[in-house]
Amino acid sequence: MSGPESPTAETDDAIGEALAVVARSAPEIRGGLAGRRTKTGGENASGETQLAADVWADELLAERLTAIEGVGQFASEERDEVVDAGDGEYAVAVDPLDGSSNLRSNNSMGTILGVYDAELPASGRDLVAAAYVLYGPITTMVAARDGEVTEYVIESEARSASDRSSGDSREQTAEAREDGEVRRRAVREDVTLPEDPTVYGFGGRVPDWTDRFADYAREIEDELKLRYGGAMIGDVNQVVTYGGVFAYPELRSRPEGKLRLQFEGNPIAYIVESAGGASSNGETSLLDADVAELHQRTPVYVGNEELIERLEAGF
Ligand code: AHG
Ligand code: MN
Ligand code: MN
Ligand code: MN
Repeated sequence: MSGPESPTAETDDAIGEALAVVARSAPEIRGGLAGRRTKTGGENASGETQLAADVWADELLAERLTAIEGVGQFASEERDEVVDAGDGEYAVAVDPLDGSSNLRSNNSMGTILGVYDAELPASGRDLVAAAYVLYGPITTMVAARDGEVTEYVIESEARSASDRSSGDSREQTAEAREDGEVRRRAVREDVTLPEDPTVYGFGGRVPDWTDRFADYAREIEDELKLRYGGAMIGDVNQVVTYGGVFAYPELRSRPEGKLRLQFEGNPIAYIVESAGGASSNGETSLLDADVAELHQRTPVYVGNEELIERLEAGF
C-alpha cells in the first residue's frame, strides 16, 4: 500500500478494503461519541463495563467489515465469540474503541484493526496488515502493510459555512453534496521510530519499573519523561512520533497483563516492528507469543529496539 488514496477509491483487495472501511468510518465514529458516554450495564469478555459507544462502534464496524468479500471472520474485544462472515480468506480483529475510560474525561481514544491471514485466535505472525485511528485534536490513521507504515490525516469534507465563503450558490450546492466524503491524505510515508533511545516511560505503572527507567536515564544522561494518556493508541502514537517505549507491564493484580493480544498487542506490535521498533511480552516479540484463546491478555512493551532489549534483560 503506497501513498495517498481516498478510502472511497475502489480497492480490489480485501486488505485494502478493510483499511478503507476503518478510515472511512473514523469521522462517523468520532462524531458519534458525544451522545454515547453512558454505561450499557453490559460487560465484555474481558469483564469490562461496556459504554454505549463501545457497542455502537463495534456494530458499525462489524456490519461494514463482514460485508467485505474476502473477510471470512470478524472478532472484537466487545464480542465473546468470533463471528463467521463467510468463506473469505482473511480474519479481522478490532478494538472498536480503545481507551473507553477516556470518553468521560474527554481524552484521546482510538480504534485498532488487525487483518490476519488465518483463523482466529491467531499468531501475530499471521497478520498481513494492521492500523490504528487516533481521535486526538485531529483524526489520524497509522497503517502498516507489506513492511510499510504510513500515517494519514482523515478528513471528512463537512466544512463549516465560513469555509465555503467563495463560490456562488450552485457551487455551494455542489459542495454540500460532497459533504460526508471522507479523504485519507498521507502525511508521513515510511514512518520509522526516531533512532535515539530517548527514555520516555509511557505507562510506567509499576513503581520498580520507573526506578529501572530512571537508572537507565541516568546512565545515558538523559531525562526520564513519563507520560501516560490512559489510551494505548495515544501513548503508542507518542512513541511512533517521538521514540521511547510504551509499556503496560504485568501488575501484581494482573500477572498476565491487561491488554489483549489479538486486538491490541499483536496489531500494535506489527505496526511498531514494521516501523523499525521492537515489541515484547517480557520474554519475546508479541508476534511470537503463544496463542491460547481469543481474549487472552498479555504484558505489552513496544518502542525503541535498544530500550526493549534492555527491558527484556531487566535493564
Ligand atoms: P479499552 O478501552 O479498549 O478497554 O483499552 C483500554 C486499555 C488501553 O487503551 C490503555 O493502555 C489501558 O487500558 C489503560 O488501562 P488503565 O485504565 O488501567 O490505565
Ligand atoms: Mn475495553
Ligand atoms: Mn483497547
Ligand atoms: Mn476497547
